[in-house]
Amino acid sequence: MTTLARMAVEVLETADPRAKTDLSRAHAAHWRASREGGTPIDIGTAEPPDRPARPDRPELLNPRDVPRRKPGTAEGRIAMMHAVAHIELNAVDLHWDVIARFAHVPMPLGFFDDWVSAADDESKHWGLMNDCLLAAGSHYGALPAHAGMWRAAEETARDLMARLAVVPMVLEARGLDVTPGMIALFERAGESRAVEALSTIYGEEVAHVAYGSKWFHFLCGRHDLDPKVVFHDLVRRHFHGPLKPPFNEEKRADAGLPPDFYWPLVEGA
Ligand SMILES: [Fe+2]
Ligand SMILES: [Fe+2]
Repeated sequence: MTTLARMAVEVLETADPRAKTDLSRAHAAHWRASREGGTPIDIGTAEPPDRPARPDRPELLNPRDVPRRKPGTAEGRIAMMHAVAHIELNAVDLHWDVIARFAHVPMPLGFFDDWVSAADDESKHWGLMNDCLLAAGSHYGALPAHAGMWRAAEETARDLMARLAVVPMVLEARGLDVTPGMIALFERAGESRAVEALSTIYGEEVAHVAYGSKWFHFLCGRHDLDPKVVFHDLVRRHFHGPLKPPFNEEKRADAGLPPDFYWPLVEGA
């Protein structure tokens, strides 16, 4: 019998982005059906790879070496969509990784519902961005992309609370801060397909940050810890560099992230 942890590892071990996202969506549907039918698939345990399988392309470069293109040009907008697609593909793996890597931590089934649902969203997001790239005459893999996207996962591989603090509550929350500016940029260029795709992504990412905050607070409650103090400590230890304002305070609030969590982590605070 398959287990959810084993299904997660299958996604992580799939290199081709189309095959990875298709499998991710199929596994999410399978999990959902098992929950709705009242016979949830066992969580089980499995050994996730240190790093997820990735395609030969895009070429992964040190962030310093990724060529910068002007956002005001068609080329620059393609580079931006490519960067978003790369983030989305990484996010698919991040959400399945939290399921597989921490399957031994006893958690309510709702925890798994949330991360399966987030992984399903990211798979759709990758597809939306890749469709935009195809419509613009490009594709995912056509440009170099940032290496080192997996660093946050490696940094937090042994501590579920650190993983939740750094990945959804810092990195995905950052997405809420920067996405409105990207949407405005594509709006000015009259690129309605990208505007629509990014608006869908923006709407759905709030939930991912909220899942992080919800389960972080759950674990603090389980261990009788002060959430704000622990959050600051874990982010300072596992996330390298200060948080960058301006923050999207409204969407962060929607996601259960109050200002006294992130403002003290700004440089010079
Ligand atoms: Fe996403
Ligand atoms: Fe996300």
